[in-house]
Amino acid sequence: MLGRLNHVAIAVPDLAAASAQYRTMLGADVTDPQALPEHGVTVVFIKLPNTKIELLEPLGEGSPIAAFLSKNPSGGMHHVCYEVEDILAARDRLRNEGARVLGDGEPKIGAHNKPVLFLHPKDFNGTLIELEQV
Ligand code: CO
Repeated sequence: MLGRLNHVAIAVPDLAAASAQYRTMLGADVTDPQALPEHGVTVVFIKLPNTKIELLEPLGEGSPIAAFLSKNPSGGMHHVCYEVEDILAARDRLRNEGARVLGDGEPKIGAHNKPVLFLHPKDFNGTLIELEQV
């Protein structure tokens, strides 16, 4: 069911500073910031030859990463995103296996204009998993 690793996401307290650090210290190719109000985050992507890194900053009230950053004030690894071919089939299979899908279980449109879902970290060894249909 799982395809490629699409990205690893890191929550950061200051997106501009983190982007600048990746650009200048690490010599990375960083996209412009993209606000995703429906997800409560602003993101940039760092393009690597084999995958991407997503940097996330809270956007608006009640951002889902605000609590994470209050526990991890300097930032930290937040989720991994795996590609799937059919997100509804993946969701139904996971539910049948007893995994919890976050939110109302309906895919939302993610940063790449493709449907995404998140799976409960307690069901996956403490790792928040994002699935993206490609
Ligand atoms: Co992501």
